[in-house]
Amino acid sequence: MRYVIGVDLGTSAVKVMLMNEEGLVCDTVSKSYPLIQKKSGYSEQAPQEWVDKTTEAIKTLVNQMEGHVDQIEGISFSGQMHGLVLLNEDHHVLREAILWNDTRTTEQCQQIYDLVGPDKLLQITKNPALEGFTLPKLLWVKQHEPDIYSQAAVFLLPKDYLRFVMTGQLHSEYSDAAGTLLLDVAEKRWSKEICDLVGVEPHLCPPLVASHDSVGTITKAFAQATGLSSTTKVFAGGADNACGAIGSGILSQGKTLCSIGTSGVVLSYEERNDLDFEGKVHYFNHGEAQAFYTMGVTLAAGYSLSWFKDIFAADEDYERLLAGLEEVPIGANGLLFTPYLVGERTPHADATIRSSFIGVEASHKRKDFTRAIIEGITFSLNESIAIFRANGKKIDRIVSIGGGAKNETWLQIQADVFDATIVKLANEQGPAVGAGMLAAYGCGWFDSLQQCADVFTTEAQVYEPIPENVAKYKTLFKIYQDIYTQTKDLNEALQTFRPQ
Ligand code: XUL
Repeated sequence: MRYVIGVDLGTSAVKVMLMNEEGLVCDTVSKSYPLIQKKSGYSEQAPQEWVDKTTEAIKTLVNQMEGHVDQIEGISFSGQMHGLVLLNEDHHVLREAILWNDTRTTEQCQQIYDLVGPDKLLQITKNPALEGFTLPKLLWVKQHEPDIYSQAAVFLLPKDYLRFVMTGQLHSEYSDAAGTLLLDVAEKRWSKEICDLVGVEPHLCPPLVASHDSVGTITKAFAQATGLSSTTKVFAGGADNACGAIGSGILSQGKTLCSIGTSGVVLSYEERNDLDFEGKVHYFNHGEAQAFYTMGVTLAAGYSLSWFKDIFAADEDYERLLAGLEEVPIGANGLLFTPYLVGERTPHADATIRSSFIGVEASHKRKDFTRAIIEGITFSLNESIAIFRANGKKIDRIVSIGGGAKNETWLQIQADVFDATIVKLANEQGPAVGAGMLAAYGCGWFDSLQQCADVFTTEAQVYEPIPENVAKYKTLFKIYQDIYTQTKDLNEALQTFRPQ
């Protein structure tokens, strides 16, 4: 039997998954790490922590493996997007990585608009300047930490750094590079024009490859540290959302994904590179060569739930927290939640907005709050679906993966809020599966990713919208949408009181 490993470098944990050539998940090992939040709006992680935890996880996976380690033919990656890792000439990390959910760069986003012009930015990068993207972070370091910036020889994205440590090779790949705001997305090359306009030296951008490209084998040192064989082939991998799409079979026009991890996304496959969504949704390169996807992002989706659990149910597991969710009526007994814990992206690109519970009353129990959070996250994702529909996309069937696909009640809530059929897969861990599939395809086991998906992904269950529930959620959604407008000024006024 032959095997591949998919490594999913997420925001809360790294997950490594061993899959065999029949697409069966043989083992999964996960190791978590915290966010470093020094100030309001800041979110960082230490790249060394990613390396340490991935090394530990692979070592455990290899130790637990029943076959021989030489049977692991390939390894590939899925990674949290947009994070800035800066290396000096000796390839040492210069500072902690600034992550996708860090929103300190509002000023730098404005500078990008001023220097490049909104039309040109959209024409080249297909995206607006958002705080989470990599270029504003690069400019922030240049302006606030000039000593560090002046030592920078190259920037990498999170999983590209991990792969660099494993192979000694510096690369980026299109699906992740698309989230930097430095890539000409349609032409698939770094944009020298944008680099010149914003004053970023083009040599900081690493060489580009495709997601399924082989970038070498793992180093002797990493093989020694993990027990892997140093002949294991390494494939570039993709952004977590691109890998989530691959691992869920979102590989042809008309297919839509809802993925609820730390962030939440609704993503739709695009074969064309010339559509114009006016920057209202993200428009990135897929991990499948020559393909693209459009996507709306809720910054704190699963994170809203994990935040709530950490604060109010630290000693319990998710199963206990979510127990009785189905007993709480639609609308959580008059309680609404907006998941703006760290600001928002779609449809409100707003770093200052924060979460609200609206309608709290004396009779509310903890399970009402839990239900309100689940519904609020789902409403936020529905805002992305509304944009897609308003742009003429037909969305009547959605594959759901991630934490949101682990709970039956939440899957039914998705069907009812989205007013669409929700498909649950046998394995809801899309990004890790997608990474494994890139390795399997890269190893030549399949002629296409689609062929690989036919073997590696299976539909387990569908959830149909219930008309009576759909009607109730339509009413609630309108009230939910109003909260943003009603709380925007209040949140701006509160800004000076936040941890500085
Ligand atoms: C996408 C985004 C998030 C991260 C989460 O633009 O910022 O979904 O990729 O890892």
